[in-house]
Amino acid sequence: MKLKDRVAIVTGAGSGIGAASALALAAEGARVVVADVNETAAKAIVEKIERQGGQGLALHVDVARAADNKALVERAVATFGRLDVFYANAGVPQWKSDIEEVEEQVFDRIFAVNVKGVWLGARYALPVMKRQRRGVFLITASTSAIRPRPGGQTYAASKGAVVTLAKALALEAAPHGVRVVAIAPVATHTPMLPTFMNKQAVDAEGLARYEATVPLGRLNQPEDIARTAVFLASDDAAMITGSCVEVDGGRCI
Ligand SMILES: NC(=O)c1ccc[n+]([C@@H]2O[C@H](COP(=O)([O-])OP(=O)(O)OC[C@H]3O[C@@H](n4cnc5c(N)ncnc54)[C@H](O)[C@@H]3O)[C@@H](O)[C@H]2O)c1
Repeated sequence: MKLKDRVAIVTGAGSGIGAASALALAAEGARVVVADVNETAAKAIVEKIERQGGQGLALHVDVARAADNKALVERAVATFGRLDVFYANAGVPQWKSDIEEVEEQVFDRIFAVNVKGVWLGARYALPVMKRQRRGVFLITASTSAIRPRPGGQTYAASKGAVVTLAKALALEAAPHGVRVVAIAPVATHTPMLPTFMNKQAVDAEGLARYEATVPLGRLNQPEDIARTAVFLASDDAAMITGSCVEVDGGRCI
């Protein structure tokens, strides 16, 4: 087991990429705090972790709120004694629209969750990791940070911000033995996917249009990202920090 006795927090872990990552980290021996605004979904993932023989804790967290991030880190340390991995994964998408059609409140919410949410997670998790002289802070960015699609400017800008945040934090954290890495998935089969396609549900047209933009010819499954997160959280990735790891079947080439 690559993460035996480590303690991990995953935000947005009630669904999609976060849920798959929480399960994969637990399968490698980590005790996992499953944090989500949807507490029912978080509890269901902890039940799955327990059924596969692991240990987890479900917490209701809105990552856009400072108090929730502070309490999240404090509960993790109080419950499990330390914090080795913080995966800042929670995010919200954007409906495809030109900038003149995007309301200011939409910008504010996307940046509150996708940027401030990650910033707050780092603000409370990194001091713990620095004191321990060990830890990994992971961020779910997106290929839209590197190769945006038309009509997704607000979401793309939020993901660009966290790629740069990962680099800046990596420099701050490195002298303390702490690593910071961004992961950039291409479109992934989760409940978020139809929004990017501007549809209520994924259909053959949307899927074909997106798959045509990925050289390997398919979209991610959440497990493609989960396996990457396990690798980056483990000591196998001991020399990887400040990187933006594209998991994109070649989309960004
Ligand atoms: N699905 C894709 O195509 C894709 C591609 C690239 C990047 N991403 C990114 O991956 C991450 C995970 O998305 P997903 O595709 O698994 O979507 P998802 O909708 O399946 O899961 C997102 C989870 O985040 C939670 N969440 C939303 N706002 C929150 C908040 N303020 N506080 C706490 N939890 C919150 C939701 O309740 C949900 O459980 C996001 O950052 C997203 O931007 C997704």
